[in-house]
Amino acid sequence: MYISWHRIFKHYPYFSFWYPKRLYLQPELKLQVEKMAEERFTNIKEILDGQHTGKEIGIRGWVHRTRNIGKMVFLNVRDPTGVVQAMVSSDAVESFEEVKALLVESSVKLQGEVIEDKRAPGGFEIRVSDIEIVHAADVFPIQEDQSVEHLLENRHLWLRSTYMRDILTVRSTVFGAIHEYFRDNGYKEFQSPILTPLACEGGSTLFPVDYFDDEVYLAQSWQLYAEAAIFGLGNIYTIAPSFRAEKSRTSRHLTEYWHAEVEAPWLQFDELLELAEGMVCHVTKKVLEQDADEIKNLREGDIEYLEKVKPPFHRITYEEAISILQKSGMDVEYGADLGTPHERELTKIYDKPVFVTHYPKEIKAFYMKRAEDDSKVLGFDLLVPNVGELIGGSERETSIDSLEERLKEEDEDTSIYSWFLDTRRYGSVPHAGFGLGVERLVMWLCDLEHIRDAIPFPRTPSRYRP
Ligand code: 4AD
Ligand code: MG
Repeated sequence: MYISWHRIFKHYPYFSFWYPKRLYLQPELKLQVEKMAEERFTNIKEILDGQHTGKEIGIRGWVHRTRNIGKMVFLNVRDPTGVVQAMVSSDAVESFEEVKALLVESSVKLQGEVIEDKRAPGGFEIRVSDIEIVHAADVFPIQEDQSVEHLLENRHLWLRSTYMRDILTVRSTVFGAIHEYFRDNGYKEFQSPILTPLACEGGSTLFPVDYFDDEVYLAQSWQLYAEAAIFGLGNIYTIAPSFRAEKSRTSRHLTEYWHAEVEAPWLQFDELLELAEGMVCHVTKKVLEQDADEIKNLREGDIEYLEKVKPPFHRITYEEAISILQKSGMDVEYGADLGTPHERELTKIYDKPVFVTHYPKEIKAFYMKRAEDDSKVLGFDLLVPNVGELIGGSERETSIDSLEERLKEEDEDTSIYSWFLDTRRYGSVPHAGFGLGVERLVMWLCDLEHIRDAIPFPRTPSRYRP
């Protein structure tokens, strides 16, 4: 049997990476060797980029696929950066029989020479000279073409799929880019409580929590607390979970979602729209730069729309929106809230995201400022294709009387809001803010059919497991 130890020692003269080096090395030497050990494993992506061709390298990862042909086994090995084919032949490896018996998702470390091979997926193959089986997996519960339900039930395992990895990579970039945008614009990060005694977005979607002998709710929004905080901090933002007991099962509603919100004193309606536009453009640009491969995989190469996401976005009033929809044959009357089909229809007309502004006050939250025509509010929704409403925001009402009147119309107990109304008693100032559903943003960027794939462990009316 041919064991290529000389090749290993040629490149890494002091050790073999599965030798229990801790047992015999002096501390200084140990440090040095461990550093080298780190360098020994390369990312699969580097192999696929051609950086290691002809060299002896090590990788560690999980068996993605396996194919036996007599005295050879082809393992497709996956790590978080890609999948590469590894060829194990019976005369190169002592543990050949064990390797042959490996099931998918077994974890391995392997060593070998990188060869360019057009026939291999990705164009490269590792000729394995040594392999360590770290853990031989049981039969993996996910096979090809499984039902959505099965995949949701096994979400903790489905997270290993290339599909979920791509989405969650984009999601990570989106979070980073939102923080970056606000911090670069001088916004401070501010946190509000999750357990709260009041509703921000109406009582019908509140999640009650038994708080000893009282009832409190999971926060629907950070906003009311943020409105109190701007007097001390100035411009602020957050990214935090929000909760909505949405009974309707739609492709764009979660019961627990991540909410990016912003609030700023002195900010006027037009400036608010520019801030929202700037954020969406910044995040989109960042994702296209950083996650080009993932986005192309997920969108099947169609990134034309995303490349056009630059200011200014289109702006129409609610009244104009209704008339456009009526002309396109949709059954909708002035005064009705826009539903998903209406919003998606509007996004088809424009080549960029579109702001809809000046909604009738009855269909918007109590805190929105009345427009000049006081049947309408200085509120907006930003609509994007495939999702509809991505952002909701407004200038805030500063008159206590108007706020109390609107709360009463909504059957709210105004005494619970008394602390909030103090924001209008002591040096009230014009201010504005908005909220964006981060999963909706990911859903749009990745062109997902359903919002549940935009979050690792989705919570919907019918699911709170795993
Ligand atoms: O329009 P909403 O209800 O506005 C607010 O909560 C304001 N207090 C925000 C603010 O001005 N600070 O929610 C804002 C955004 C929506 O545009 C949508 O993207 C997202 O939150 N959203 C949801 N995302 C997923 N699942 C749900 N059930 C959602 N409900 C709202
Ligand atoms: Mg809204």
